[in-house]
Parts: sequence; structure tokens; C-alpha cells
Amino acid sequence: MNVKLENLDTDFKEILAKLPSLAQGFGYRIYVVGGVVRDLILANDIFDLDIVVEGDAITLARAFAQNSKKEFKKHHAFGTATVYFDRHSIDFATARKETYSSCGVLPKVYRASLREDLLRRDFTINAMAISLNSSDYGTLIDFYSGLADLEKRVIRVLHKKSFLDDPTRLLRAIRFAQRFSFKIEKNTARLIEEAVKREALQCVHPHRLRDELILILKEPRPEKCIRAINSMMGFSFVDDSLRLIGKDYVIFGRLKNALSFYQKNFPHCRKLDAWVMYLTAMLYKLSSKRVEHFLRIFDFRKGDRVRVLSTFYERTVIQRLSKPQKRHIIYRALNDLSFESIMFFYAFFRNKQIRSSINIFLKTLAHLRLKVKGDDLKGLGIKPHTIYGKILEKLLDDKLDMSLATKDEEMRRAVVIAERLSTEK
Ligand code: CTP
Repeated sequence: MNVKLENLDTDFKEILAKLPSLAQGFGYRIYVVGGVVRDLILANDIFDLDIVVEGDAITLARAFAQNSKKEFKKHHAFGTATVYFDRHSIDFATARKETYSSCGVLPKVYRASLREDLLRRDFTINAMAISLNSSDYGTLIDFYSGLADLEKRVIRVLHKKSFLDDPTRLLRAIRFAQRFSFKIEKNTARLIEEAVKREALQCVHPHRLRDELILILKEPRPEKCIRAINSMMGFSFVDDSLRLIGKDYVIFGRLKNALSFYQKNFPHCRKLDAWVMYLTAMLYKLSSKRVEHFLRIFDFRKGDRVRVLSTFYERTVIQRLSKPQKRHIIYRALNDLSFESIMFFYAFFRNKQIRSSINIFLKTLAHLRLKVKGDDLKGLGIKPHTIYGKILEKLLDDKLDMSLATKDEEMRRAVVIAERLSTEK
């Protein structure tokens, strides 16, 4: 079978026009491999290319980057290199086989043929290649029946040690099965069960689990993956006590609605990282102490940790908004929270008053700024300057509650506040 490389984005077409002759010059054979081949057959969008080189990948990538005047980065330990284009990148890897000394550790790698390189991969649908060599350009190379499995819509491992060699594949199996609505083939499902019994996920470094988890949460339907993980392997790799039951999934449907509500109504606000909200939902049953522990061990980025944790810390505070409140109280309750936390609460609390407060906040309050600055207070002769912080804080509250629109109105109000503060002393 010939795969239509013409369907690729123009950038890629330019790349593929140059690369084969360059590789030929070095006497190397090159192939497009992995998920890209799967996605080309499924006619999905392609963002990045993976090229396997029977030869030295770093030499080829360097020459290609120089030739195309693009940025190039090599990763010596793995014999791989990346060339960066404006919208895409291309990974070059020397064809290799791998041996694993024990469960979950990174493999030792050796140079190998394309056939061996494909055999070390996770699933048959990800173990196909397309030749970029002049003798058989565009030909699908499918040693392990990946195409048949794509047609049968099944996820199948290539050998029985696959999940023990690399237990992150347990999560990958679920991710691909849910993404494409494929079934996990019977024998593969049995191997998953066996690996779960042997607690294979427990021997993977938390950083690798974190990366897989984030990929899952970034899928279009993360709740489906979360359900499948819960029923097939449980969440003990996240926290011993985390088990989800029927009603715990309600929040995922509500999050989906809240996300489209946000997109439609607040286009001026920044785009949400939905995965952070799904992570919060997945962990919501746990105490904040346990969530803190999990986020630390898995070494999530500080910004992500803060966004998840603030939702846990503030969940009781938000309930204050279930009664009608002045606008400055709404502002103070929500302003230090991320938009992800705020929209999580929007989904979680169905209380009309809370939702209306969030609506007001995101529509107008979040973007309000004072026109008056410290220098203006100085110009008004207000003393001492140590009270400026307090005046501006109070002024902002009044601006929110009294809808002060112009700078003049703010100035007049600032004088009143300053006078009040000086008599209070
Ligand atoms: N791979 C593997 N085992 C893993 C990770 C990756 O065998 N644990 C192989 C697969 O052949 C995979 C390829 O490396 O297709 C590229 O990995 P990655 O980019 O993670 O996977 P994609 O299949 O491209 O997935 P996605 O569509 O989510 O990017």
C-alpha cells in the first residue's frame, strides 16, 4: 500500500522534498514512523514528524537543519535530534532496539534495523513506517499488522512483555482506545490485568506518570479515560485512597458545559487550561493535604500546583457567594483565584447566586483597574504616603460598589476616603 504523503501540510511537503536526497547522500535509509503513520492513514491532522534513520540520526538532522537554516537540538544519550520549523518540529532517531533491566526503568538502547525498531514499540497501530527512500518512496511498511488492527479498530501490543518493559503503556493503551473509540484486544487486556496485578505502575518514576496523566487530561474526552483507568487499574498510583464511584463522574459533564459556557461568553478572557480543571475534578475527593503530597511527588510545575490547590483551599470560602453580596466582596473572593478554579466552582456549585457572581466577575470586575495612581494622591496633597496603599484598596472597593467610571469621580472619592482614614486614626 502507498500512503498519500501529499495530504501533509505544505511545510512538511517542503521538508520531504529535501530530506530523501540528503539522506541518500550519506548512504542512509529513512522512514516516517509511529503515530504519524497511524494518523496519516486515519487522515488526522499531523503536527510533528518522527523520522527513523538507518544511519546516524544526529548527522542527518544537523545537515538538514543547516541546509534549511533551522534550529537544531541533539539529545546525545538517545541518539536523537530535533529540527524546529515555524509551526512544526521533526524528530530524528537512529533505528534502535531496547533492553529493559527491570520494570519501569529507562531502557538501554542499541543500533538496530527498522524492523527491530518497530518491534520495540507500544502497539501495532503505532508500529508502522512509510519509506522515504527513492526505491520505494511512500510505501507502507507494516511488519506487525498495524493496518489490519487499525481497520479492526483494536489496540494490540507487539509482545507479551510490553507493559512490564514500559508500564506507562498501560495508560497509553487507555488513551488511544478512548481517543479512537477502539477496543483493547483480548490478549492485550489480559496482559494489562497481569501488569496491574504486579503493580507495574508503581515502579515508574512519578515524572513519567505525570506526563502521561497530563496527556490523558488533554484528550478531548478525558473523563472517558478516567473511567477506564478507575475500572481497569485503579488510581493507587496517584493516591492509595483514591477510588471513584458513579456520582464522582457527574462533575466531568458539568465541567464540559462550563467550558463551553466560558468559551462562548467570555471570549475576552484568556483561554483555559481545561486539563488543570479535569485534574482537580479527578482529585476532588481527596483532602488538600493528600493533593499537596501528590502534586509534590509528581513534581507538577509550580503554576499548575497553585491552580489545583487554590481550588481545594478556597472551596468553603466560595460558599459565601451563595448569598447576594456587594461587588467588592465578589471581587475579593474571586480575584486571587485562577480562571480555572473559578470555572471549576462554576461547574461544581449549581447555586444560582454563586454562578451569577462568577458571571459578573468574569464579565466586568476581573478587568476593572483604578485610573487613580499613587502619584495622583500625591498631587492632591494627601499625606502621609504610607496610607496610599490603604486608600487605593478602599477606592477600588468603592469603584466596584459605586460604579465610579471617570478619573474625576475616583479622585473625589479618594479625598473622602483619605479624610475618613485620618479621622479614624
Ligand atoms: N512509543 C512507544 N512506547 C512509548 C511511547 C512511545 O513505543 N511508551 C512509540 C510509538 O511508536 C509512538 C511513538 O513512539 O507512536 C511516538 O510517541 P508519542 O509521540 O508519545 O506517540 P504518538 O503515537 O505520536 O501519540 P500522540 O498522537 O498522542 O502524539
